[in-house]
This record gives sequence, structure tokens and C-alpha cells, in this order.
Amino acid sequence: MDITQLIRPNILSLKPYQSAREMVQKGVLLDANVNPYDQHWEGVQLNRYPDPRQRALRQVIARFLGVKTENVVAGAGSDEVLDWIFKVFCQPGQDQVAIAEPTYGMYSVTAHIFGIPVVEYRLDKRFNFDAERFLEVVPNNTKVLFLCSPNNPTGNLLDRSQIMALCRKWEKIVVVDEAYIEFAEVPSLVCELSEVPNLLILRTLSKAFGRAALRLGYVVASKQVIDHFLKVKAPYNLNALTMENGCQALQQSESWRLHVESTRRERGRIASELSDIPQIAQVFPSQANFLLFRCPQASQVCRRLLEKGIIVRDRSSLPGLEDCIRVSVGTPAENNLFLKELRRIL
Ligand SMILES: Cc1ncc(COP(=O)(O)O)c(C=O)c1O
Repeated sequence: MDITQLIRPNILSLKPYQSAREMVQKGVLLDANVNPYDQHWEGVQLNRYPDPRQRALRQVIARFLGVKTENVVAGAGSDEVLDWIFKVFCQPGQDQVAIAEPTYGMYSVTAHIFGIPVVEYRLDKRFNFDAERFLEVVPNNTKVLFLCSPNNPTGNLLDRSQIMALCRKWEKIVVVDEAYIEFAEVPSLVCELSEVPNLLILRTLSKAFGRAALRLGYVVASKQVIDHFLKVKAPYNLNALTMENGCQALQQSESWRLHVESTRRERGRIASELSDIPQIAQVFPSQANFLLFRCPQASQVCRRLLEKGIIVRDRSSLPGLEDCIRVSVGTPAENNLFLKELRRIL
């Protein structure tokens, strides 16, 4: 498959901006009009521009995943990567994107910002994806499909073999957002990347790594795709502090693994306690750090929880999610408070 055929012609021919720190990072740096007197914060130099190629960070991410550095690039949250996907692949007035709904709202918001029409593909009753069914309904001018696994807000994994079957049959871009994969009991799709050049995987440090405020996400894909993302991204999209702290987070495996274990334990406990509440009609199985459940008058329940200072997400307005509430797994103490108030309200 020739990925370049999917790239917008203006991006293929784009000569990217050559920033000062692109080639040379050390020496007598008199080329960037910055303050030459050293400023540091937590050991990180602040008076010079950060590395636009994110060399150190990309190496650490690549080692963490077991891929090559040329297969990753990082954004200010994985939400920034969504922008690059539209910039590189979606031609306004010509292309559209497909989104497997119900899912995370940013795919559709970003499509609207870029003026790209959205085809809504509905996941089945159990929120599974079916490659054959997708191929039957997808319009020809669809350039990109957005999938999320584990899916937000339903919590389930999408069938791996269906995703891989689609990547092999559909010669377009398949994006799988794995923001919650560290909480799942299956490995990431990253190990399948070398098989299929049209698969893009989004990951983030906002969830399992406890770095939501840092704004650091990344995309894993074929070298060709990554090279074009490097062309369209702002030269200094990540600041030096974020990159330094991101490297540390990825290298300290014990602390995030402990948090993931505790979250999985609490996820099981909340699911079982919710299932014991008679008014709760359904608790959906989750491989993420949240649970989706259905209960009567969900919106009112959310409002009453809010009055008690407990904030959960009413997902009732999404297709197929009538009367559904999404609750994040908190600390054991927070989860106890939530369960106690919910029982009282119901
Ligand atoms: C599926 C999914 N992807 C991405 C994000 C955001 O990731 P980031 O913080 O890296 O932009 C979220 C946040 O809730 C999410 O649910």
C-alpha cells in the first residue's frame, strides 16, 4: 500500500519551516535571537528553544514500546495529533472521515473545525466493530476511520482481529486511540504496526501515567506517516519541561504500574457494588479506568450527585446510551463516597 497516495498534495510538496534548533543543538548558538544567559527550572534549560525533533523523548517512547524512534512523534496531548491527521490526510471539499460511535467527542469536534464532513458508523449493541459491515456502508471518499479501544465512554475493547482485517482490506487510514490501553488486560496494537502501514495508534500520558496537566500524547505509525506529521507540526510544539518530565514518567515503571493495579482492583469492586444495586439496569464491562452504567433518570441522578460535590459524566445524550452515566475510577476513598451517595439517591 502506498501511503503517499493518501496524503494531501500540498503537504507532500510542502517544504517545512527550518527552525533554528533543527540540525544543531550544541555550540555557540547565535542563530535564534534568544537570551544567552542561562535560565534553569528543575534542571531544565529554559532560555534556549527545545529540540523540535524531540530526539530524547522519542527515543524513550520508542524504547518503552519496542519500536523505532522513526515510528513515533509526540504532541501536546494526543488531541494535538488529531489536528495533524486532518492536516495531512483530509482535503477540504473532497474527503470525509468516519467515526465509530458512540465514542470520544474530540474526533468529531476536530473534523468540524477543519470543515471535514463526518460519516457516523454505529458500533453494534455490544459496542463492537465489524469490518465487513463497515466496508459495506462506508462512502468512497472516506479517508480516515477513528476507532477508540478501549472505547470511551463504553469501556470495551474493539475486536483486534476486526481492526487488523480492516487495515488489510481498506486502503485508507485507520486511527486507533489507545488512551486507556494500560488499564486493559490485553497488549497494545503497537506490535502489529509493522504489518499494516495505514494503522495509526494514539497514546497518551494523561491517563495511566498521571500526567494530564503535562499535555503529552504521541502517535505510533509507519515512518512515512511520522515524517509528514513532523512536517506539519509547529516546530516547538512541546516545551522542554514537558519532554523532560515525560521521559522520567516513562522510565519509572513501578509507580504507574501500581496505580494501574489499584485502578483495576477498584474498577472490579465498583462494578460489583453497582451490580448489587437493584435500580441499576446494566453495568457495562470495562477495560479502562472508568465504568459506564445505566440507571433510571440518569440526568437527575447526576444532578443530585453534583449537589453532594460528586461529579460524574451524564452520557445519556450519546447514541445508544440512553440513561447512561460514566464514572471514573477514583481513589478507594472517593469511590466509597460515590457509592454511598449513589445508593442514598437511588
Ligand atoms: C479516548 C481519549 N483519547 C484522548 C483523550 C485525551 O488525551 P490527551 O490528554 O492526550 O489529549 C481522552 C481524554 O479524555 C480520551 O478519552
